[in-house]
Amino acid sequence: MKRILITGSNGLLGQKIVEVLSRTKYPLMLVSIEKHSIFNEEAFPYRQVDLTKRQDVRNVIDEFEPDVIVNTAAVTDVDLCETERELAWQVNVGIVENLAFAAKLVGAKIIHLSTDYVFDGKNGPYNELDRPNPLSYYGRTKLTSENVLLTSGVQYTIIRTMVLYGIGVNVKSNFALWIYNNLKEKKPIRTVDDQIGNPTLVDDLAFAIVKIIELDRTGLYHIAGTDLVSRYDFALMLADVFKFNKKLITPVKSSTFKQPAPRPLKSGFIILKAQTELDLKMFGVKYGLTILKNQLEMYSSQSMDDSN
Ligand SMILES: NC(=O)c1ccc[n+]([C@@H]2O[C@H](COP(=O)([O-])OP(=O)(O)OC[C@H]3O[C@@H](n4cnc5c(N)ncnc54)[C@H](OP(=O)(O)O)[C@@H]3O)[C@@H](O)[C@H]2O)c1
Repeated sequence: MKRILITGSNGLLGQKIVEVLSRTKYPLMLVSIEKHSIFNEEAFPYRQVDLTKRQDVRNVIDEFEPDVIVNTAAVTDVDLCETERELAWQVNVGIVENLAFAAKLVGAKIIHLSTDYVFDGKNGPYNELDRPNPLSYYGRTKLTSENVLLTSGVQYTIIRTMVLYGIGVNVKSNFALWIYNNLKEKKPIRTVDDQIGNPTLVDDLAFAIVKIIELDRTGLYHIAGTDLVSRYDFALMLADVFKFNKKLITPVKSSTFKQPAPRPLKSGFIILKAQTELDLKMFGVKYGLTILKNQLEMYSSQSMDDSN
């Protein structure tokens, strides 16, 4: 029975992985930086750890002796990474160095999350053999984190993903929720039509990661939703699924926004390797958004019940 440690368990993806794993019999240990877990700590043991602190990482890994470590902890705000470079490096690279060091001592395998921002977005969609060339500091930290694992001597799986969307407890907003919240209030939005990629429902990715654990796969995988769309197209599809007014959405170019970090424009993933080797059936945008709609409806009816 594999013992699984999940870092960033209070984050968007971390929560979903815990949810999927909670339906299995694997012993779990949850780790995040907040004082408390969003899950019941008696059912799912939790440790508050700042993973940039090597000794603290060692302590929790020595204590639990995991077979598998799923690392979702990161600074994911790409503009913050561009301006707060030391922090970005400490977290996105330092955590992986610390985990690799401790994992080696107990013989654990690491499953690590990376991103399409390792590519420059000049000629996507990309497969696993394409050459990375990050434009942003965030992309550089994530590519370095991949290289840490490549040279660590630890067994690893690197999963590159992109444009995650979904709901969770106390999570940061994401692109789909931003569109949803604005259009629901009938507020107009401007969104770019020159950035393309594969939006990925976070629940779908969590399921894929659990499959990787079960099949014991190693190496590099691109895992994302099946549809390659622009952000503008995604917003239109969301309006369609939620029956919001599409006229509220205006297409603009990326250069309209003065964002500190440059984005890969023509991005996207070819996910054939994951589909064939892992027998994954990833969702397209319309199906993913329909699931999101159901989740939001359930969530709002639950909150109504809670307030009664
Ligand atoms: N979101 C996307 O669109 C996207 C796209 C491609 C790849 N990815 C990758 O997928 C992974 C998961 O992303 P996500 O969206 O789930 O991110 P997230 O919601 O920000 O979750 C990351 C979690 O890590 C925690 N964390 C940060 N620094 C830590 C530290 N020093 N010690 C312990 N925990 C720490 C965060 O806590 P705080 O929130 O308190 O900082 C947060 O709970 C990341 O590796 C990311 O690079 C994400």
